[in-house]
Amino acid sequence: MKIVIGSDHGALSLKDEVKRILAEQFKNVEVHDVGTFDLKSVDYPDIAEKVCGEVLSGAAERGILLCGTGIGMSIAANKFKGIRCALCSDVYSAWMSREHNDSNVLALGGRVLGFGLAAEIVRTWMTTKFSGDERHKRRIAKITALENK
Ligand code: RB5
Repeated sequence: MKIVIGSDHGALSLKDEVKRILAEQFKNVEVHDVGTFDLKSVDYPDIAEKVCGEVLSGAAERGILLCGTGIGMSIAANKFKGIRCALCSDVYSAWMSREHNDSNVLALGGRVLGFGLAAEIVRTWMTTKFSGDERHKRRIAKITALENK
């Protein structure tokens, strides 16, 4: 599986930690890091655009976005048709965002989460499958319909 990851300066260290976790625990996962790569201030929508672009083109199956709170990244990501970005600060939300919402992008807050909790959130999000239940498919189809209104 290919994962694309990106952060702004507010979550650089958590991005590095998430990459370390992915490399250590998900041997079959290839990670493409689109930056940022230093603490110089950058605008999170630019990074969100790169990550969402790779998910929508199929270059990556799913994406992970990180900023100080995760809020800016999630707002920006959800502007892209076909992106279902879930901002998660707990494991239950990460689980449900996959099982019920089929989230294809995970947003995390580098100034919100400790490394331990972030690791559990990422592990859960990576390993949980969409349930495929009819009711959830129907609701996601309605979200897609909203994108075209
Ligand atoms: C950058 O200072 C900060 O605004 C950004 O990382 C993020 O938290 C925005 O939602």
